[in-house]
Amino acid sequence: MRHFSLVDFSVRRPKLIVWTAVAITLLFLTQFPRIQTDTNPKNMLPETSDVRVWNNEVDRFFSLYEDTIVVGVQNDADVLNRETLGRIARITDEILTLEGVASRDVNAFSTITNVSTEASTLKVGPLMPGVPQTDAEVDAIIAHIRRWPGQKRPTAPSPDRIAGNVPRGKTLYERHCAACHGTNGEGGHGTGVTLSRPRSAPILAPALNNPGFLAAATDTLIKTTLIHGREGTPMRSFLKQGLQERDINDIVAYVRAFEQLPPPPGARVLESESPVLVRESPYSLKRTVEKVQAAVGAANMRLIRVQTLDQGFVAEGKENQGQIIVYSCDFAFLNEALKVDPRVGLFLPCRITIVQQADKVLVMSINPKRLSRIFNNAELNEMCEQMHQVYIDILEETVL
Ligand code: HEC
Repeated sequence: MRHFSLVDFSVRRPKLIVWTAVAITLLFLTQFPRIQTDTNPKNMLPETSDVRVWNNEVDRFFSLYEDTIVVGVQNDADVLNRETLGRIARITDEILTLEGVASRDVNAFSTITNVSTEASTLKVGPLMPGVPQTDAEVDAIIAHIRRWPGQKRPTAPSPDRIAGNVPRGKTLYERHCAACHGTNGEGGHGTGVTLSRPRSAPILAPALNNPGFLAAATDTLIKTTLIHGREGTPMRSFLKQGLQERDINDIVAYVRAFEQLPPPPGARVLESESPVLVRESPYSLKRTVEKVQAAVGAANMRLIRVQTLDQGFVAEGKENQGQIIVYSCDFAFLNEALKVDPRVGLFLPCRITIVQQADKVLVMSINPKRLSRIFNNAELNEMCEQMHQVYIDILEETVL
């Protein structure tokens, strides 16, 4: 008896084979619309990862959408004037018409529901029903906002100084604070409370010798923290723990004196030339994008997607094809960095931007060394340096 041969069978029954292949292809095609692309870097972390679990919890709790966009308006001469309010109303109207925007959750002067009492009846309506036409109407809005409970006329923080005895403060600091905040105010290991940090993690004592903290915190803020403590954290009121106001003043003066010392290694900031790394490409825009993709692969990063800079912000088909972003990620590295400080997530996934400017094609990325200033975390510095090298390699490889 002869063995069954698929080749012989196919040659004898060509029609059957072709129709079977067509049927299988069609079967797969029916599944095509169900294919989903998920490029959210969060979902690339293990499901049990602290960052992902906590982030999901926050999303659920606040019914958040995947993306929330906050638009800030700055006008040194004050935003509450007819022209700026008019512009805000126009921008809001435009935003409401964008596809994909959850319009019921757009909060702006012209959309936010304002509840007030007028002649003992409840009045519910938008805060700014139309663009104010007269200065009197603007004043009415301002007066109304000021009436909201807890609203005080904003005052600039006074550069207050609390006088105290520094050497005495040092002794007290060493006895009462150093165990948590470190001998030199360098803080506990790791980072403090952040939005994406799991609540179950211990609250760490922040660095007090951090130049960013000292520049932002007034003496009064430090003193108030010592007097009242921070409820629900290990930072307890020192007044209740037996210190006198005079002791507290001395400690404040000592903490302030950290400013005079050279920045500690824990707050070392990497030197960086500029916030962006830029190279000029000798190739066309299209070829440069291809070369970036290849260079990303060579750097052992996974390519996530390639899109125009303005995709999603302008009508489909109207995107500027002269500005392209290549997104990529190194997941092992990402996981390590997020463990040190979840704020790293703000800068992810990694992106390389390619733009056509007149007859030049530029390839650029952020300079990760600059991030070191924002994080103020010596542990992250090494990672910032590594990322800096990875970006440089990709840019150089691209323009080679
Ligand atoms: C048991 C540990 C512990 C001790 C002791 C302690 N702190 Fe704290 N401190 C913390 C923690 C934790 C926080 C963060 C609280 C929070 O998240 O609001 C904090 C917050 C602070 C802040 C606010 C920092 C900021 O960024 O807002 C200051 C200032 C401060 N501590 C100063 C001191 C001083 C000065 C002493 C000594 C008199 C002291 N602490 C003693 C744990 C401690």
